[in-house]
Amino acid sequence: MTETITIRRPDDWHVHLRDGAMLEAVAPFTARQFGRAIVMPNLSPPVTSAASAAAYRERIMAAVPDGSDFTPLMTCYLTDDADADDLAAGHAAGIFTAAKLYPANATTNSAHGVTDVAHIMPVLERMQDIGMPLLVHGEVTDGEIDIFDREAVFIERILEKLIAALPGLKVVFEHITTEQAVQFVDSAGPNIAATITPHHLHINRNAMFVGGIRPHAYCLPVAKREQHRLALRTAATSGSPKYFLGTDSAPHEIDAKESACGCAGIFNAPYALESYATVFDEEGALDRLEGFASLHGANFYGLPINEAMVSLQRSEFQVPDDIETAGSRLVPFHAGAIMKWQIVQS
Ligand code: DOR
Ligand code: ZN
Repeated sequence: MTETITIRRPDDWHVHLRDGAMLEAVAPFTARQFGRAIVMPNLSPPVTSAASAAAYRERIMAAVPDGSDFTPLMTCYLTDDADADDLAAGHAAGIFTAAKLYPANATTNSAHGVTDVAHIMPVLERMQDIGMPLLVHGEVTDGEIDIFDREAVFIERILEKLIAALPGLKVVFEHITTEQAVQFVDSAGPNIAATITPHHLHINRNAMFVGGIRPHAYCLPVAKREQHRLALRTAATSGSPKYFLGTDSAPHEIDAKESACGCAGIFNAPYALESYATVFDEEGALDRLEGFASLHGANFYGLPINEAMVSLQRSEFQVPDDIETAGSRLVPFHAGAIMKWQIVQS
């Protein structure tokens, strides 16, 4: 049995670092494990301009421990009146790495999102021209559509048409949760990729209802049936360069989760790499962890591979029930569970 693995320092291609006190609380966890992270722009108000992204990047750098080997990569939150010139200038200046498409009201702080992709076609055309990736929250928001079907319907109604209209656009289908998404990504060209979260590899929708309602297993897109989880595990561990690590770590204060109307989001940043390593081990694919965690994303984004290395060893530890830090109380993914892989501290 493999006891230790050493891989390039990984990157997180989808994370919510928040702002203010929560940023102070959570940024050190991401900076400890990852060399770079694509930082989601769904703040309140959202990050819609290069100037606000540059200021947010400064706040992130102030929140990570001194000497961290960590670079935040900023994204622009697209609205119906997104400005193609500001976006392109921000990209050229190295402020914006990518832009995020939230269908309006799909998830946390997405009220300003795009109401119809037709409104932003000129922006997307410009992104295609300059090779700037579009990151997509792939769910329809139509309340008539069953919540478990919203990703599959998004593919049919929006995504297929979008990539037919803009065949050269680089698209990351974020946090995929269904076998339909895997089929779509597999059959699309090399400019279409996807991130997969640790939680969607570990849990299916039953996790939300084990002995009662479990708010810490609730996120968006919501976890689906077991057949979908298995399709995601096959995709993540396949070695395909189209799939890469994106935690979607999305912290909310414990009171906001354990509420009559609890927020969507799973805080997995503290043990993300350990969580993915467990999946790859269970699938007999530890030799493919490095590609998924440290190579495929950088290659897709056209960025260099990290120089630093990290080792994990087969060694058990218990994840705490909650984490109190910088004035926040957060419940981590795998709270109370035994993890079988641990990062070797250097
Ligand atoms: O569960 C989620 N939480 N999904 C998202 O898309 C957003 C995120 C958040 O920001 O809380
Ligand atoms: Zn997200």
